[in-house]
Amino acid sequence: MERAVDRLLADFTDQLRHGPADFHTLVSEELPIIAIGEWMGIPATDYGLLRTLTHDQVFAQELFPTPSQLALSDSATTQLRAYFADLIRARRKEPGSDPVSAWIRTWDALEPDRHRADQAVHAIALFMILAALETTSHVLSTSVRLLLEHPEHLEALRRDPELIPDAVDEVLRYDAPIHMISRVASTETRLGDTLVPAGQMVQLMVGAAHHDPARYPDPHRFSPRRGASHLAFGAGIHYCAGNALARLEAVTLLTALLGRSIRPRLSGPPRWAPRVAFRRITSLQLTLT
Ligand code: HEM
Repeated sequence: MERAVDRLLADFTDQLRHGPADFHTLVSEELPIIAIGEWMGIPATDYGLLRTLTHDQVFAQELFPTPSQLALSDSATTQLRAYFADLIRARRKEPGSDPVSAWIRTWDALEPDRHRADQAVHAIALFMILAALETTSHVLSTSVRLLLEHPEHLEALRRDPELIPDAVDEVLRYDAPIHMISRVASTETRLGDTLVPAGQMVQLMVGAAHHDPARYPDPHRFSPRRGASHLAFGAGIHYCAGNALARLEAVTLLTALLGRSIRPRLSGPPRWAPRVAFRRITSLQLTLT
């Protein structure tokens, strides 16, 4: 992780010396695919394709997707399915020490039907990629944006890097990457004053929960020492399997960035994709001047 971060920051710093540079594209979009790609043994030449397909696929999970966004999402899903079917075939031929080969071994031991075992591995591999990229990119750029907007906190972290992990959790509270978590009530359930009938879907609006003054005093204040728990990674049995990896990426990146001698600042507001459920920054321009 440190090697990847150092390389990305070196390239970014080079670009910055020539004028404004897009931190989001050059660093935040790159680190998560390198982290997950190297772990899963995916060739680096495929990183760009997988990143584009995940951006398109996510529209299916939006609140009000347009027909053309849904068509884009369908096509991305088909391509992603084919990509991971090929990957699993290749790993069956040549197993290695990567997690995809390990999932194949595990499912072969659990499931005598080879086709069903492959389907299970396929679902895990595909979901890992979908879950890991945009979410983490958002946290990386948002951490940098919020710290540049709050120089007093940035200086405090520079003086004391041990505060960085708490700062990352405050970023996750303040501006969570996923704003909607869905559940279907298996039985009639009372939630506060509301009776949820069996079979009804409930959406947890994470941003609203994270800015609830009854839970977080002065909730709209970005306060890296808050040390409060949050729902950015969900809760319960489906709690995010990649939370430690996402936190590691953010902490490693901020530690390296704040340890460097460069002092970039925001050269304009970030640009956003028009989304509700999955937050997505598309550009974060920084400058040295
Ligand atoms: C900051 C980055 C991330 C955020 C905010 C995030 C958020 C979430 C949330 C909210 C859930 C729960 C969904 C639900 O309860 O319905 C979840 C589940 C999951 N996440 Fe993440 N995630 C992040 C990064 C990652 C990464 C890097 C990976 C892969 C290495 C990953 C893999 C998963 C998986 C496999 C699940 C499903 C767990 C299960 O259903 O048992 N996530 N994530």
